[in-house]
This record gives sequence, structure tokens and C-alpha cells, in this order.
Amino acid sequence: MTALSFRNVQKYYGRDAGRHHAVRGFEADISAGELVVIVGPSGCGKSTLLRMVAGLEDISEGQIMIGDRVINEIDPSRRDIAMVFQNYALYPHMTVRANMGYALKIAGVNKSEIQTRVEAAAQILGISELLARKPRELSGGQRQRVAMGRAIVRQPKVFLFDEPLSNLDAKLRVHTRLEIQKLHRRLGVTTLFVTHDQVEAMTLAHRVIVMHAGEIEQFDTPEVIYNKPASLFVAGFIGSPPMNLFAHAPGASSGQILGVRPEHFEFTSEGWPVIVDTVELLGAERLIHGNLGDETIVIRVDAQQVAPTIGQTLYVKPIAERMHWFDAHTKKRLER
Ligand SMILES: Nc1ncnc2c1ncn2[C@@H]1O[C@H](COP(=O)(O)OP(=O)(O)OP(=O)(O)O)[C@@H](O)[C@H]1O
Ligand SMILES: [Mg+2]
Repeated sequence: MTALSFRNVQKYYGRDAGRHHAVRGFEADISAGELVVIVGPSGCGKSTLLRMVAGLEDISEGQIMIGDRVINEIDPSRRDIAMVFQNYALYPHMTVRANMGYALKIAGVNKSEIQTRVEAAAQILGISELLARKPRELSGGQRQRVAMGRAIVRQPKVFLFDEPLSNLDAKLRVHTRLEIQKLHRRLGVTTLFVTHDQVEAMTLAHRVIVMHAGEIEQFDTPEVIYNKPASLFVAGFIGSPPMNLFAHAPGASSGQILGVRPEHFEFTSEGWPVIVDTVELLGAERLIHGNLGDETIVIRVDAQQVAPTIGQTLYVKPIAERMHWFDAHTKKRLER
């Protein structure tokens, strides 16, 4: 069942010469209970898209639907949506309990129902013992959970998350990411989650939308996005370090670009000569940065392997079934 759909959605900011086309022909169907992550660089239109779903921005053209109801003209308060922002400002003078119940109070929900829902959400989030505290008495991660609690108590049809983890330190981010995953499994609410962190996107999502300059570059499972990137942009954006892209690969016809991920080379005496430039140890792995003619190359190897010396020549070859080809003009994937 489709829970959330976008039909040729456009967003223009400003008018006339100053007009900026922030979202371009966005088309997507999101299934009930699905967790879809939108990922893309800063300014590509991610927040704009969420804000249009939430009703915080007008939809310039096209339609957004929840189920079979077009929501373009529906008041934000009646869209059955809860949004968690990056800056999830809690009310500082209110307790956690009051913060979590506030939206329900405004909506006229009765006291005992509010209490039931707040306590249930607090239990799910593991913050039951914090209900009497004020936000200043909480850690960053705890505040983040209160912000999620505020969204959960509303029992919405759709959750919208706009970079909710970006204020947390690295360790807490990973922890909270896992919590969100568990929470989603437990509640099963259709979720649209925005991030510019590709690891977050790949680990959280059932399906990922990669956006670039207001457009969808690819909408598919993390596996397909990684194994069959649809465009040069996706190839370069997903994966760290990014895929090697060679404009002058041996065996390529002109106008074709060869992509090979750093982990997809083998060492063989008939391979391409790579002159080692720098070597980085990342713990379990080593990154070998080198030059291949006038192009640069990054190769990822097991750290157990003997490290090459700087200036040494290595002979490497891409693993045949792991090569990706792209059209240099259309920038799209070629199947060959
Ligand atoms: N109110 C506005 N008026 C004019 N232009 C805007 C407005 N809000 C956003 N934009 C522009 O629209 C584009 C998309 O912005 P948006 O905030 O959706 O990007 P984003 O993908 O969320 O980026 P980030 O990762 O930095 O949060 C940007 O070029 C931005 O400058
Ligand atoms: Mg944003």
C-alpha cells in the first residue's frame, strides 16, 4: 500500500529573475511502513521537500499525497504528520513530560490520554525516569530522545526526520541511529529521513533517494545504490573513499568513464602500473593512494597485507565483474 506519494513536485523560491528552482519534478511512491532516507549534498533540496510534506512550505506545482488524499491544500495541523528537526528546540521552562505532551494538550486531547501516551513513548525511548526533568538537566542524546518522544505521542501516519542526529557526537550518532531503527521496527510508521551522511543513509534505509540539485538521481535499495549506481553523481557520492573514476581507462572507448571502487582491485603482474604516493592505515584496512598515468587511484587493502613503500610500482587490475561504466556526456550508467 502506498502511504506517501509525490507527483511531479516542483518548488520555486522567489520570483522572476531571482527565482530558484529548488525541487525539480520529484516523483516517488513510498510504501506503508517503509523507512526511506533522502541523502544528498547541502542545498540539494532535502529540507525543502520535507517542509512541503509537513506544510511549512507551499508546493509550487505537482501533488503530494498521503494515502489517496492530496494534502497540498490541507492545513499542516491536519496532515497527520510529525516532524523532528535538527534544531529540535525543547521548551526550556517545561519538564520533559510537559514537552512531550504539549502538542496533544494544544490539540485538546484529555489529560489521562496524554499521560498514557507520554508514558508509553517515554518507555519505548528509555526516558521514563527523566520525565520530571527540565531540558537543561539532560544530555544531548537525551534531549534528542525527548524530541522524538514529542513526535511519537502524536501517533502520526508519517514521521519526518530532518538531520536529527547531526548535533550529536560520533558515538552517540551511531547509538541513536540504532535506536531509530529499533523504534521504526516497533512502531512501523512510514518514515522519511533526511541526512547528508551517506553511512546513515545506507544503514538506516529500506530504500534510499539520492538527490542532487533538486532532482532524484536514484531511488532504490542500499544494495542497488552501492552495486549499480545509476549515475556518475551517485557513484561519486556513495562510498568512502569514493569510487575511482577513470576518464582514460585502458580498453574504454572515448566518451566512456570507468568506475572501480577502492576495494575492487586485484594485484597481478599484467595489471596497470600504479606508483604509490601515500599510504593510510585505517585500522583493519589500508588505503593506498597512487598515480596511474595522469590519473589518481585509491586502492583499499587488508591491513594484514604488507604495506607498499612510497614510490614503489604496484600492478593492479579491476575485478572484471565489479567494473562500472558511465557515459561521459549523459553521466548515466551504461550496461555493457
Ligand atoms: N526560504 C528560502 N528562500 C529562498 N531560497 C531558499 C529558501 N530555503 C531554501 N532555499 C534554497 O533552496 C535550496 C535547497 O535548500 P534546502 O534547505 O532544501 O537544502 P538541503 O538539501 O536541506 O541542504 P542542507 O543539507 O544544507 O540542509 C538551496 O539552494 C537554498 O539556498
Ligand atoms: Mg536541510
